[in-house]
Amino acid sequence: MRGEICVGSATFLSLASLLFLIFMHVGQTGTATVPRNIAMINVNLTTFGTGLEAVIAPDPVDGLYTDNASAPLQRRAGLRQEYKFGLYSYCAYVNKTAGLCSNSSAANRFQPYEAITEDMLANYSTITFAIFNPPPTFLDSSYLGNFSNGAYYLLLLGTIFTALSLFTGVAKHTLAFLLSTLFAILGSLMLLIGATIWTVIIKKAQSVNDIVVGPASAPIPLGIEVTIGSALYLAWAAFGCLVVSVIPYMISCCTYRG
Ligand SMILES: *[C@@H]1O[C@H](CO)[C@@H](O)[C@H](O)[C@H]1NC(C)=O
Ligand SMILES: *[C@@H]1O[C@H](CO)[C@@H](O)[C@H](O)[C@H]1NC(C)=O
Ligand SMILES: *[C@@H]1O[C@H](CO)[C@@H](O)[C@H](O)[C@H]1NC(C)=O
Ligand SMILES: *[C@@H]1O[C@H](CO)[C@@H](O)[C@H](O)[C@H]1NC(C)=O
Ligand SMILES: *[C@@H]1O[C@H](CO)[C@@H](O)[C@H](O)[C@H]1NC(C)=O
Repeated sequence: MRGEICVGSATFLSLASLLFLIFMHVGQTGTATVPRNIAMINVNLTTFGTGLEAVIAPDPVDGLYTDNASAPLQRRAGLRQEYKFGLYSYCAYVNKTAGLCSNSSAANRFQPYEAITEDMLANYSTITFAIFNPPPTFLDSSYLGNFSNGAYYLLLLGTIFTALSLFTGVAKHTLAFLLSTLFAILGSLMLLIGATIWTVIIKKAQSVNDIVVGPASAPIPLGIEVTIGSALYLAWAAFGCLVVSVIPYMISCCTYRG
């Protein structure tokens, strides 16, 4: 009986981990309620127009944003209020609910500077980003792109190991529990590194939040606000569940006499 509880809790933990990971993968693959609310990272540009106005004053800022939710992305059709990035694509929203997603691809690179400037009129993108010296990490597309790309493969492997751990663990055999333990350890390691990389690149990208513009006497925020998305918390929760599942899997493996 005690053995059953041990096996049951290991299965429960790896199942929970797999579910968290599935939701993480679904983030920003579409604009329906569930994918819309799951993202690795959010970039809010609501007040960027005000910041840009302070940069180019006394010239006015005209036609920076679009409020047409179906205007194509990456065609200089106008900036959206918010950009959210997932593991496969990003979506740009004109308000809390209406938006459009980029084409999906595995190992989508997190390159917010490209996504944002390709929606702006060309004159604004050159004006805005010429003023930063040294440029913040937010503009460093090769750094952000390479690390998010590598982290994707680690999170994908972590997901595969989590699924393997769950499915071998239901076989109820000493050897199966040994395999489950190994898969859970490997999966935890992959998830740990993948989630750490994302945490670091988001923290570095967030330095753009502190940039101020305008006269030194009355500076205002540039208006690019980067926040951690719910998908990163899902990745950490999945890691937590999987790493804890190692203990009951290991005990089952050592004590199960089925
Ligand atoms: C974006 O920032 C604006 C201004 O700070 C805020 O009012 C708005 O709620 C934010 N949007 C989201 C989706 O958080
Ligand atoms: C919004 O953009 C789409 C795609 O370009 C276009 O077909 C549509 O006419 C636009 N709507 C408005 C109100 O401009
Ligand atoms: C968001 O924008 C869409 C399209 O412009 C509009 O249909 C919808 O009512 C807006 N929603 C909110 C909450 O403003
Ligand atoms: C997305 O894919 C379609 C079809 O392949 C293509 O026509 C379109 O230009 C792509 N959009 C972007 C933003 O790359
Ligand atoms: C940028 O270009 C748009 C469209 O051509 C124009 O309306 C706007 O005034 C220009 N802004 C600046 C600062 O040059």
